[in-house]
Amino acid sequence: MEIFVVSKKSEEMKITRKKSNKLFKEAKKMFPGGVHSPVRAFKSVSGSPLFITKGKGSRIYDVDGNEFLDFCCSWGPLILGHNNSSVRKHITKALAKGTSFGTPTPSGNEIGKLILDNHRFMDKIRFVSSGTEAVMSAIRLARGYTNKPKLIKFDGCYHGHVDSLLVKAGSGLATFGVSTSAGIPESLAQETIVLPLNDLKAVEKVLAKRNDVAAIIIEPIPANNGLLIQDKAYLKGLRKLCTKHKTLLIFDEVISGFRVGFEGAAGYYNIQPDLITFGKIIGGGMPVGAFGGKNKIMNHVAPLGNVYQAGTLSANPIALSAGIAMLKTILKKNFFKTQEKKTKFFVENIMTHVKKKGYEFSIQHIGSIFWFNFSKNRVCTSDQIDGSKMKIFSKMHNHLLNKGIYLGPSGYEVGFISSAHTYDDLKHAIQIITKTLDKVL
Ligand SMILES: Cc1ncc(COP(=O)(O)O)c(C=O)c1O
Repeated sequence: MEIFVVSKKSEEMKITRKKSNKLFKEAKKMFPGGVHSPVRAFKSVSGSPLFITKGKGSRIYDVDGNEFLDFCCSWGPLILGHNNSSVRKHITKALAKGTSFGTPTPSGNEIGKLILDNHRFMDKIRFVSSGTEAVMSAIRLARGYTNKPKLIKFDGCYHGHVDSLLVKAGSGLATFGVSTSAGIPESLAQETIVLPLNDLKAVEKVLAKRNDVAAIIIEPIPANNGLLIQDKAYLKGLRKLCTKHKTLLIFDEVISGFRVGFEGAAGYYNIQPDLITFGKIIGGGMPVGAFGGKNKIMNHVAPLGNVYQAGTLSANPIALSAGIAMLKTILKKNFFKTQEKKTKFFVENIMTHVKKKGYEFSIQHIGSIFWFNFSKNRVCTSDQIDGSKMKIFSKMHNHLLNKGIYLGPSGYEVGFISSAHTYDDLKHAIQIITKTLDKVL
């Protein structure tokens, strides 16, 4: 392994959060918890959140003038890094023509073609404005198509803040969902059956007993509760069971879509889901989501069919222009291979150090997604994660911030490597991360 040299300046740096702290105090008076999405409040790590004013390439900059090498990348959409010039140019060009028309637009057709011509697993797609909306619409379509009410989801998968999916497994034998948020009627939570990941028998058992399950929804690469990579045989098994029991298989690819390949996890594992949901990368950093599938199912969506779904700002031309720029870039030859190679370099170099020291630590990774696992063992279900280790992550997070490295503010969150991250960026990060591990482990 090459030896990387960290400059003295970086060693001595300790960030000030003075202006961020002041803004957070003000924000707390206006917004619940001072934020518009809970994890941003830094509740699982120390200090208050940083107020970011600018992003460029692999870096973000806060109001106090601190610069960070960013591995959160806006929680996944920014696979080209911040303020990518092609994305910016497309947005600027679209903006000059107006912001929203509430009509079909040529940009809708352009992105539709771009996706469907390069994705074997869908005939039709509908655009919405977020991942949550995509999931909500897909499960309505599954219920409308099958005329069945129940859903199966998995413990450890997150599908946005959709009422019937904000549930966890009930106790004992009852697998019906118990809501994880106030405001969700018990009757609705009970429409969802929650099962453990990577356990085909558990799914088989439920489907053998009941014929009212409209869909199984899964993050084929679960990346919201650590990175719980599933066995390919398990995912293939789900496909078989769904076909056998006339239940739809929904791949929630809000994170994995366009991340592990243009065809996402469906392509990566070569599995045909019945419906796929998208968000994040598809919008190039703008609010876009989508759901798609084969004609026989998608033709049930209004106005063709009787499953209602609509949106004032759906397929907004400016948002789509960002998506078009993003998708055109990632379609270039070797794009995904290059990101995966970089991620392996990052992981393997950290792991060389970890193994030498014998730390209880590993990094789970796939494509350009990684997750710090405070265990040597493979973790593929949520109950295998030792929650007590999150204290170590909190220390690590704070230490890394002071050295100019930004990770998502929770040990359950994954990190992302973008095309803007250079090998020099990664060498710099490897040096700082290994030193931080020496301090916290
Ligand atoms: C797998 C998955 N599905 C759905 C969502 C919800 O997407 P959004 O936050 O755009 O509503 C997320 C968000 O992180 C996600 O990771």
